[in-house]
Amino acid sequence: MDKLIIEGGQRLVGAVSISGAKNAALPILAATLLSDDKSIIRNVPALRDMSTMLKIIRNLGVKVEQDGDEVIVEPKGYKKWKAPYDLVSTMRASICVLGPLLAKQRFAEVSFPGGCIIGPRPIDLHMKGIKALGVKVKVEKGYIIADAKGLRGGNVYLGGHFGTSVLATANTMMAATLANGVTVIENAACEPEVVDLAEFLLKMGAKIKGHSTHRIIIEGVKRLHGAEHYVIADRIEAGTYMLAAAITKGDLRLKGARLEHVVALVDKLTESGLDISESTGGFRARFIKKLRPVTITTLPYPGFPTDMQAQFMSLMAVTEGISVITEKIYPERFIHISELARMGADIILEGPNAIVKGVKYLSGAPVMASDLRASAALVLAGLVARNRTEINRVYHLDRGYEKLEDKLTKLGARVWREKEK
Ligand code: EPU
Repeated sequence: MDKLIIEGGQRLVGAVSISGAKNAALPILAATLLSDDKSIIRNVPALRDMSTMLKIIRNLGVKVEQDGDEVIVEPKGYKKWKAPYDLVSTMRASICVLGPLLAKQRFAEVSFPGGCIIGPRPIDLHMKGIKALGVKVKVEKGYIIADAKGLRGGNVYLGGHFGTSVLATANTMMAATLANGVTVIENAACEPEVVDLAEFLLKMGAKIKGHSTHRIIIEGVKRLHGAEHYVIADRIEAGTYMLAAAITKGDLRLKGARLEHVVALVDKLTESGLDISESTGGFRARFIKKLRPVTITTLPYPGFPTDMQAQFMSLMAVTEGISVITEKIYPERFIHISELARMGADIILEGPNAIVKGVKYLSGAPVMASDLRASAALVLAGLVARNRTEINRVYHLDRGYEKLEDKLTKLGARVWREKEK
């Protein structure tokens, strides 16, 4: 296993290209299964999660070719409908093949994805969505077994205890594209990744209205054709580099990133004192004055993203004063607190609220990456910490940040990978 070593204290300056969005590319690759024709997806990031999704697609008997950031999927004549445990268990997002398989094969067997380190991850909303379309579902031997012979349009309210769901919206929308009749998804997720998926489905010939709102209307069609698509830039990767600019008192230009996808983060960082402005082909995040603590609450889009909560906490950990960080999407997504504490952070957890008291400095230490975004938080902490930080189990980062060390090194960071002993 690899570990990441960071010698902190370097100010990051320069331009960085933001990769394609992992969470848009995953359901879009799954959506290629809705057609018999070839689809070409570009700007697919080179990440472990992407390899897992391509394995699942190949395992269905589909031909997949990859050339750099371009993936060509040729589903012609594939007959299988099963996503097995050994693949699904390594990536929860695998569940987004459920909708396409139901629509195309009228049957699906997908391993139950289970929970993960960021807390329980129920799938009741996925079930609710497809059941509203006439699909019969049962869970047997750890598999979701779904029969969609009676697939037809339906109305469904996708609201749960923690609001709406991104992938349940994606699954319901994909299943509805080939259903007989009209489907209305109320309280649909409107994250940019859902919108990008809808844009791809429209190119395939689907009839969809209202994506980017909380009410999506899908009129089923008889067949979808292949399409070409360029995946949007990753707003979470962009956000992480904005925080890298803030925490290292740096000046970064984020190429390819879209400011309108990170409005909540921009709002909070501006309130804190960071200077953010549009620049050619992206935007710029520049430290101009001492930052102030700000309070955040994670919410569905366009609220503050849960996927930026951990990284934001690292920034607040070294920002003088007190901030409160409330997690409303995954109330247990706080594993990073104990690792940040190892570096000298002063954070108290009270239910879903983390009370962060900014300290003068963090001190490098060996720490353990526990999940993707927690790992990114440790990288940010390492960039500003005194001395050397060793981040173990770095494979988590490889799930979501393309060429992380290369990109950081080009910006002036001292960071490299070593084999864990
Ligand atoms: N939820 C339910 N029932 C469901 C599904 C979800 O109650 O059937 C709850 C969840 O427990 C959570 C909330 O609804 O409290 C939101 O979960 P959601 O379903 O939206 O999460 P997801 O679609 O499984 C995607 C991203 C996550 C991101 C969340 C929230 C992908 C592949 N994953 O997950 O990304 O945190 O939306 O924005 O799109 C990451 O990239 O690190 C990551 C975890």
